[in-house]
Amino acid sequence: MDAIERVCKFISEAETYYLATVEGDQPRVRPFGTILLRDGKLYIETGKVKNVSKQIAANPKVELCAFKDGKWLRVAGELVNDDSRDVKVAMLEAMPSLKGMYSPDDGNMQMLYFKNAVATFSSFTEAPEEVRF
Ligand SMILES: Cc1cc2nc3c(=O)[nH]c(=O)nc-3n(C[C@H](O)[C@H](O)[C@H](O)COP(=O)(O)O)c2cc1C
Repeated sequence: MDAIERVCKFISEAETYYLATVEGDQPRVRPFGTILLRDGKLYIETGKVKNVSKQIAANPKVELCAFKDGKWLRVAGELVNDDSRDVKVAMLEAMPSLKGMYSPDDGNMQMLYFKNAVATFSSFTEAPEEVRF
């Protein structure tokens, strides 16, 4: 399994992660759950109407944190908007519960993938492990 696959698997198994953005000099954080690995890119999903989307548009630098089985993972990087319809369809197929809230042509559903990502796996017992993708 390569680095990005390990990161996606950890986040999927953790189920919930916390996505931090910045708004001016104020950090903002909220729970997220969407994750998709497609064509070598790690995607998350949000709605363009949300403040989180507006914060990312103004400053694409984000960090997420997920926790599972005594280990935590942080992924820092920039998010890039991808308006491809097939990516939206793939997200809805991977997480069908989203279908009640989003559809590929609703003008709201937004797919974002990580660029220049630094992912760090940490625990209380082992040295941190850093991977990049
Ligand atoms: C467990 C959980 C998972 C969530 N996953 C997502 C997600 O993947 N994408 C999303 O846009 N909102 C998700 N939400 C909702 C956001 O946390 C919520 O809309 C939040 O208010 C967005 O941040 P904002 O208010 O700064 O825009 C999730 C909420 C919960 C409780």
